Amino acid sequence: MELTLRELRDEDLPLLFEQWADPVAVHMAAFTSPDHMERDAFERRWTRLRADETVLNRVVVADADVAGTIGSWGEPGEREVTYWLGRSFWGKGIATDALAAYLSVERSRPLRARVASDNVASRRVLEKCGFRVIATERGFAEARSAEIEELVLRLDDPAPAE
Ligand SMILES: CC(C)(COP(=O)(O)OP(=O)(O)OC[C@H]1O[C@@H](n2cnc3c(N)ncnc32)[C@H](O)[C@@H]1OP(=O)(O)O)[C@@H](O)C(=O)NCCC(=O)NCCS
Repeated sequence: MELTLRELRDEDLPLLFEQWADPVAVHMAAFTSPDHMERDAFERRWTRLRADETVLNRVVVADADVAGTIGSWGEPGEREVTYWLGRSFWGKGIATDALAAYLSVERSRPLRARVASDNVASRRVLEKCGFRVIATERGFAEARSAEIEELVLRLDDPAPAE
């Protein structure tokens, strides 16, 4: 399988929304916004993200298919990364490969990530790419309607040589 990262296009949005609004994925990610399932809010969110020069985003393409997105935001020294794949692409190593590739696009270090402590797959993706758990916090997880444990992970390794 060939994996590539490319810039987002307008025509990606309908499929990305389907992937984003999948209740199984939402439960897994846990820390979502109250308007997560609303298409208009999704469109507004992407308009905002694409206009923000401090936000980096890439579409993850597996062979010829749009598998999901990966992105990062924040001030230097505090930047965070996150990713989201459509369910039919899970369990094939795509998130691990996408994050490994993205670490050459997002070159800021340290780089952080946050995961619900029971999101085993996402934690594993991060750890396989060199992130280490640095803190455990509790926060309100909209998708669970409850306060749950969240892990903060950090990558300190320098970005790969260009
Ligand atoms: C989390 C997510 C990105 C993982 O993507 P993926 O492509 O399936 O991950 P990979 O195939 O690269 O697998 C990474 C590791 O997790 C493991 N894994 C995958 N799914 C798992 C599951 N449901 N339970 C436990 N481990 C799992 C894999 O076995 C692999 O570990 P290994 O190499 O030791 O075998 C994907 O499930 C997703 O998009 N979920 C919804 C959104 C989300 O949670 N985003 C992250 C928010 S922090």
